[in-house]
Amino acid sequence: MKASGRNTEVKRLKTRVRLILAASVIAPYFFFGCSGRRSEPLRGALDVSDPKVGHGQMVFMDKCDKCHPGGDAGLGPSLNNKPLPGFMVGFQARHGLGAMPAFAEDELPKGDLDDVVAYLKALRKNG
Ligand code: HEC
Repeated sequence: MKASGRNTEVKRLKTRVRLILAASVIAPYFFFGCSGRRSEPLRGALDVSDPKVGHGQMVFMDKCDKCHPGGDAGLGPSLNNKPLPGFMVGFQARHGLGAMPAFAEDELPKGDLDDVVAYLKALRKNG
């Protein structure tokens, strides 16, 4: 009798731990997911006729999009809703402050980085 009572208590404790774990996994999605979405379909399609913007978009998709999806917030903050000067984007990409990885010159050449900045500026102006 006593042993089964302890078993139920252990089960209850395990459920509680699982709930807390689940909540801590889900919570960031609410936190980041609700912030500053400005991309399609809320905004129109981006004009990528400028080759710098078009190329910057490709580089962005390759290197940055997984954490800043379409310039929105993902694992990283949104980039399309604030007036980040080009040099700050460059500095952040080179030095990776906080939880972001750094991109060295051989991984992200200066020309590519300049085009990413042009793409981000176009994104911000869009709409
Ligand atoms: C592995 C995920 C990841 C990748 C890949 C990534 N970032 Fe980030 N980025 C982050 C995180 C996380 C932050 C927030 C850093 C902090 O302050 O802790 C951030 C912050 C930034 C900021 C500063 C935003 C602000 O509001 O201050 C800029 C600019 C930025 N990233 C640009 C880029 C660019 C450009 C690329 C691609 C070359 C890129 N990121 C790739 C995760 C990432």
